Amino acid sequence: MKVDVLLGLQWGDEGKGKAVDVLTPRYDVIARFQGGPNAGHTLEFEGQKYVLRSVPSGIFQGNKINIIGNGVVLDPALFKAEAEALEASGHSLKDRLHISKKAHLILPTHRLLDAAYEAAKGDAKVGTTGRGIGPAYTDKISRNGLRVGDILYHFDTKYVRVKTYHEQLLKSLNYSYDLTEPEKAWFEGIEYLKQFKFTDSEHEINHLVNSGKSILCEGAQGTMLDIDFGSYPFVTSSSTVCAGACTGLGVAPNRIGEVYGLFKAYCTRVGAGPFPTELLDETGDKICTLGCEFGSVTGRKRRCGWIDLVALKYSVMINGVTKLIMTKSDVLDSFETIKACVAYNVDGDEIDYFPYDINEHVEPVYVELPGWQTDMTKMQSENEFPEEFNGYLSFLEEQLGVPVKIVSVGADREQTIERYTE
Ligand code: GDP
Ligand code: IMO
Ligand code: MG
Repeated sequence: MKVDVLLGLQWGDEGKGKAVDVLTPRYDVIARFQGGPNAGHTLEFEGQKYVLRSVPSGIFQGNKINIIGNGVVLDPALFKAEAEALEASGHSLKDRLHISKKAHLILPTHRLLDAAYEAAKGDAKVGTTGRGIGPAYTDKISRNGLRVGDILYHFDTKYVRVKTYHEQLLKSLNYSYDLTEPEKAWFEGIEYLKQFKFTDSEHEINHLVNSGKSILCEGAQGTMLDIDFGSYPFVTSSSTVCAGACTGLGVAPNRIGEVYGLFKAYCTRVGAGPFPTELLDETGDKICTLGCEFGSVTGRKRRCGWIDLVALKYSVMINGVTKLIMTKSDVLDSFETIKACVAYNVDGDEIDYFPYDINEHVEPVYVELPGWQTDMTKMQSENEFPEEFNGYLSFLEEQLGVPVKIVSVGADREQTIERYTE
């Protein structure tokens, strides 16, 4: 039995939450392997909408085990709010959500440091989600972090040590703050967290795989936000790529089976940083309006543009994608023509590979394809696809060298079409 991975190939918000929910019935276990409450994964079904931040998207179908892996960073206060809201809507997590003892904790001072570092960067700021993600992973790597397992032994002493260190940093940055309320909420979160099962999740997962269970690993963010391969320094602080599932869950590389790579039929980005195909015109505004491109958690307007196949090819390569999932196809339903970036022009030279830096010298080279100008939102099968839409899919498959196996034509769970034709 293999472990499958589902992840975003662009700058996040590709529709991972929906896709994981759709695939959940095929798996026994769903596991998050990186990121934290910077994620906002949206699911819609039976007229209800849910936005998940730290909880895996496999909680709504069939009482499956859901695991928060060691690669995740967890904010107990935000986790409590998320889990309590789910509980109130009839989705109890206590028996089936397991949390790795090795997952790192986001402290209230991590959020302050996130804000202080951003302020210190001025114009060069990353535009983070402000959830303390960077500082929490910094402490993990620099061996100062606190882990979920620490809650069980002499926690107060360990907390004060890290907090004192953070307060020295905040002082040196001249950052003023009041910790009273956030700290109170955080310790309430810690108490709440104790009701959950803390596991040695690497043992648990390997045991599950060895006993024939199937596992789907859920990525957060996207490949273009990966700490190594994304548009550094405008990235998040974790390994969002397939290899992150190995380190973030304790799964050996030879256990990885299918790798589902998700992309939107176009492209978006939230926060600062380069975005070669960004459209700063009415076409960009049209995509934003039709795609409701506003952050699921922060409400920030997402920057919109055409699909970037240079970046996507790179993502497919880094992740070893075996199956593609295209989402938000319906957003392009009314367009007469659709552009796809197939190369970059860098100071007069045309390149078709993703370069070291995608700076202001990079100009997209487009091909223009006919739009399908058909409402696809109620379609049930690939047999109904318009010819131009099939043309778009074939073009993408040819460029990317991987089949598009699932097409999403709306936000609802039901608006999902599998493709069986080769
Ligand atoms: P994630 O972070 O990758 O899980 O994606 P988000 O939930 O942040 O953003 C995707 C948004 O698009 C959410 O509001 C989804 O409900 C919505 N969505 C997902 N798939 C589709 C689709 O095929 N069509 C449309 N119109 N919306 C979709
Ligand atoms: P999901 O899982 C889109 C972006 C932020 C910022 C950069 C660094 O919903 O796809 P961070 O707070 O992580 O230090 O911010 O990364 N970012 C996301 N953009 N979707 C996300 O998650 C994101 N998580 C972080 O906007 O540019
Ligand atoms: Mg999101």
